[in-house]
Amino acid sequence: MILGIESSCDETAAAVVTGDGRLLSSVVASQDELHARYGGVVPEIASRRHLELVSPVVRQALSEAGVDLASIGRVAVTRGPGLIGALLVGLSAAKAIAYSRRLPLVPVDHLQGHVASLYLGDEQVEPPFLCLLASGGHTLLLAVRERGSYERLGSTLDDAAGEAFDKGARLLGLGYPGGAAIDRLARDGDPTAFAFPVARAPGLDFSFSGVKTALLYAVRDLPEGELDARRADLAASYQHALVQALVQRARRAAAGERLQRIAVVGGVAANSALRAALPDAAFAPLSLCTDNAAMIAAVAVAAAARRFSLRHLDSCAVMRCLGLPQRRIFALFALEFAIVGVAACADGEASFLCWRHGSASLSADRRVCRSEISWQ
Ligand code: KG4
Ligand code: ZN
Repeated sequence: MILGIESSCDETAAAVVTGDGRLLSSVVASQDELHARYGGVVPEIASRRHLELVSPVVRQALSEAGVDLASIGRVAVTRGPGLIGALLVGLSAAKAIAYSRRLPLVPVDHLQGHVASLYLGDEQVEPPFLCLLASGGHTLLLAVRERGSYERLGSTLDDAAGEAFDKGARLLGLGYPGGAAIDRLARDGDPTAFAFPVARAPGLDFSFSGVKTALLYAVRDLPEGELDARRADLAASYQHALVQALVQRARRAAAGERLQRIAVVGGVAANSALRAALPDAAFAPLSLCTDNAAMIAAVAVAAAARRFSLRHLDSCAVMRCLGLPQRRIFALFALEFAIVGVAACADGEASFLCWRHGSASLSADRRVCRSEISWQ
């Protein structure tokens, strides 16, 4: 049995998957409401909330699966990319559980996790396929020829597709995150009402800044008081332009790589217009499009695991990689050591609440946020 933990952005998630890849439970505690008032994820706030949620979420995943820690054979955890303070919470919890139970730990690439969400559906999708990964943080075209690896063919030059949905939603006054809100509103609108440009970046890359600016001007140029009447048309036309850009590039990449099958994963894979525009493609199950821990555990079904030891503490790796000032490194190291140590003593079930104060020093170092935590 595999326990998965995900905390790379603003979802605290845990899941249990069997050794042969059957999903037993998937618990996701979203922080959407917490960040909505800021119009986007605030890393510091996300880290603190992860600290509060990680322990109860893991407990709930175990209980919904009807198992206890003694039945778990390995622990899988997102190692990056993501916000460093947020990642560190999930990593510390996973390491604590692995260390205390002497379990192997599998550090998982978050993007690999999104691809693996395809292996958890009722209709499993087997490579080879062309994977369009469209989420709040990434827009990628990947050639997946076997499980566990991919070749990157194209990515975005500016915003991610989900980010473009979110920024569009903000311009239309729909709140954050806005992808699902645009999707719902667009059903009542005319996708041809406004001719927004479909991005034409070179090769297989994407660019969404042009269409975003076009929406900004369209909203600005509306006669006074017209926005309410035209909001659905604007949402439908904007969504149409984003979807066309994704579909055209995905089809071109599949043809160029001679891949028969297209698969779509990530939060934007939940979009109904995108699903309708690619009727022959495979989509991740709806519940596993946005960030979750089931996809992280799914990667660990076939991945190599390592026995965790204290020399794997990430602060050591961060110290080596970034050459940060000594004082900050010691603060990070002491905090991480304390979380892992205390949780390990309590058999991986310790409450992380008592470390909330420490999270300030943990996620305060914004400079570290640019780098992924490395697994040494
Ligand atoms: O995969 P995800 O949880 O985040 C990252 O890993 O970055 O995706 C979140 C993104 C958000 O930008 C959200 O607006 C978008 O997915 N999203 C959607 C829909 N549901 C979520 N975008 C378009 N249509 C949807 N139905
Ligand atoms: Zn994601």
